[in-house]
Amino acid sequence: MKRSRGSAAAMVVLVGLVMILAALGCQSDKKKGITLGFSQIGAESEWRTANTKSIEEAAKAAGIELKFSDAQQKQENQIKAIRSFIAQKVDVIAFSPVVETGWEPVLREAKAAKIPVILTDRAVDTQDDSLWVTLIGSDFVEEGRRAGRWLVEKMKGHEGPVNIVELQGTVGSAPAIDRKKGFEEILKDKPNFKIIRSQTGDFTRAKGKEVMEAFLKAEGKNINVLYAHNDDMAIGAIQAIEEAGLQPAKDIVIVSIDAVKGAFEAMKAGKLNVTVECSPLLGPQLMTAVKDLMAGKALPKRIVTEEGVFPMETAAQELPKRKY
Ligand code: AHR
Repeated sequence: MKRSRGSAAAMVVLVGLVMILAALGCQSDKKKGITLGFSQIGAESEWRTANTKSIEEAAKAAGIELKFSDAQQKQENQIKAIRSFIAQKVDVIAFSPVVETGWEPVLREAKAAKIPVILTDRAVDTQDDSLWVTLIGSDFVEEGRRAGRWLVEKMKGHEGPVNIVELQGTVGSAPAIDRKKGFEEILKDKPNFKIIRSQTGDFTRAKGKEVMEAFLKAEGKNINVLYAHNDDMAIGAIQAIEEAGLQPAKDIVIVSIDAVKGAFEAMKAGKLNVTVECSPLLGPQLMTAVKDLMAGKALPKRIVTEEGVFPMETAAQELPKRKY
């Protein structure tokens, strides 16, 4: 009798133990899923909105848990978000850095916590390249060159100086620095091409319009070309040009970058001459990189997206095919 009471008690203990182990097993199963912390710059442009959507959709499709943080175009907010991802012990951190410099301390913290960091879209300027695993995104210098080459071709036969005004992207950001560099590289041995004014429009429509108004006020009809570092600023500037009584794409040749739907609509309406593609659809590539990393595979230091150039004449045919 005593013996059977003892074995009943042992059974209860055993069942209890099995239940605890099962619960622990369940928890560790849950832990097996991949968590990605992503710090986005903000929602400054049509491009950025498409980029966020691509990342959210791709994470869902890949079964990756996404912790998303919007920095509202402030570096300090991105640094806070990265620190919070480290505290939450995410598996991988990815971010699109608003500016190039000032990331070393927080990247060192991520490295010390053994959390790999992937850069998307924009580069950082660090002494130590081991602080990030890979950079997925466009070649911004080449985009600037493509804009420059298209312009040189377009202006063949133009007599006299080609006066260019430039709307730069966010000061200190990789696309603003590189797009300027690539464009100037093409024009450096063409003395009749002159950048007569250059100012930031912070990649937004509102600022693009505001700065173009100032350019027009200062230069009047002296402007032959507008080079905008993105479509949103070009679209804002088109408004300013029309309000000044001039015809965009005719009185002033307009070259911009991104190839968002808004640019194709402007080209179809005959108001923008060309857009150089910069694809925001980086989500699928990012999720593949995250999974490869978690599977222990080595990633190339640079993953470059393939892109084209779309002049006005292609707009009607291309617009229905555009995904962003
Ligand atoms: O970093 C990519 C740039 O950022 C896009 O050209 C611009 O539209 C965006 O805001």
